[in-house]
Amino acid sequence: MADTITITDNRTGKQYDLPIEHETIRGIDLRKIKVKDDDFGLMVYDPAFMNTASVKSKITFIDGDKGILRYRGYPIEQLAEKCTSFLEVAYLVLKGELPNRPQLDRFRSNIKHHTFVHENIKKLMEAFRYDAHPMGMFISTIAALSTFYPEAKNIFDEADRQKHIHRLIAKVPTIAAFAYRHSKGLPYIYPDNDLTYAGNFLTMMFRMSSEQFKVNPVLEHALTVLFILHADHEQNCSANTMRSIGSSYVDPYSATAGAAAALWGPLHGGANEAVIHMLDEIGSIDKVPGFIKDVKEGKGSRLMGFGHRVYKNYDPRAKVIKKLAYEVFEVTGKNPKLDIALELERIALEDEYFVKRKLYPNVDFYSGLIYQAMGFPLDFFPVLFAIPRTAGWLTQWEEHILDQEQKIARPRQIFLGSGERDWLPIEKRK
Ligand code: CMC
Repeated sequence: MADTITITDNRTGKQYDLPIEHETIRGIDLRKIKVKDDDFGLMVYDPAFMNTASVKSKITFIDGDKGILRYRGYPIEQLAEKCTSFLEVAYLVLKGELPNRPQLDRFRSNIKHHTFVHENIKKLMEAFRYDAHPMGMFISTIAALSTFYPEAKNIFDEADRQKHIHRLIAKVPTIAAFAYRHSKGLPYIYPDNDLTYAGNFLTMMFRMSSEQFKVNPVLEHALTVLFILHADHEQNCSANTMRSIGSSYVDPYSATAGAAAALWGPLHGGANEAVIHMLDEIGSIDKVPGFIKDVKEGKGSRLMGFGHRVYKNYDPRAKVIKKLAYEVFEVTGKNPKLDIALELERIALEDEYFVKRKLYPNVDFYSGLIYQAMGFPLDFFPVLFAIPRTAGWLTQWEEHILDQEQKIARPRQIFLGSGERDWLPIEKRK
């Protein structure tokens, strides 16, 4: 059986044999299909990349129908259960293999070396208004880092590139925590390099005057697991943005700021915040059926935290998070919105509208409940997503710029606007 597809152009009767590789044909091969020799050739119209692979990747695998997610071949459930530190998973995502002990120690030490930010970054952050959205502060501050490290534009210098990758992974928790402290009018707490990645972050967030402050180990573990679950998710909106910006060979700080901006929207990383707003709006369990009815009739919002472009089954991350929620609530007390969420899930999973469209809880459905119970303000949720995802973005970016097949991202368009016409003086315009 030949690995080709034969296409007949009914306009001309001509046939074309196109190779199939990895269950894919190359878009560029369609350009041979023309009516006249000077035609541009056939293109593919695929808004939102519904059926277009734009990269070959070895990082993250998702089977949306089966609800499978793997980083570098390892099932997400195993990583969430067995890895004790986020940096172990960040290393795996970045380098392709789980680190052995010396590798992990070296990686950890490289990250710890970079956790502090330049004092001018602090001043820059102080310039934001007291009520600035922490994600806006986060994005702008990451972009500003490129001005502190102009050598970051040497993206093909291996040693430089690794340094900036380490720097970004190290500094995002610090910047995130400073954004939070700024919004509360609290003094910034500097990194403590004796702590774990999650433990240090929680300390920078919540430590007050006491030097004895100790993060609750259950909450530290929960945040580590949440960070692991959010480390990468193949070609989603923000990863695609990272690759697209990176394809112009700009420095990684600018590309990461762009990726974080893409993450901020309510259809992507902002959904966990939207879930809490939705649960607040519903208010009590008895209002759930009415809310579901409105969603189905398109009257209100969508059921936030439900549905996914790729998963047509239960998001495996949501399963882990749901279980984790109970561990966290043992410490923090139950988030009263949990019961509303459980009822929403119960009804939606039985309802024909959601069943037919294969809409299941996604990663954001339960994560917000945990974040809220841990004391994070709602507008901080997308920042909590961006911290671990920085490792994924950088991995996607590095894979992209080193891929010999890639070029600057430049989609085509179908132009449906006006044909050529002559300029008119203003008095003659309608
Ligand atoms: N509630 C109600 N109906 C929905 C929902 C929902 N959450 N999601 C999809 N639908 C319906 C949609 O109206 C459409 O119905 P119809 O065929 O009758 O027009 C059908 O399901 C297909 O939806 P779509 O918008 O074509 O699907 P998509 O792949 O473009 O959208 C999505 C994926 C995640 C943007 C969407 O499911 C959504 O808006 N969900 C709510 C927001 C959310 O939870 N986002 C977090 C995504 S996971 C974290 C991340 O990766 O960032």
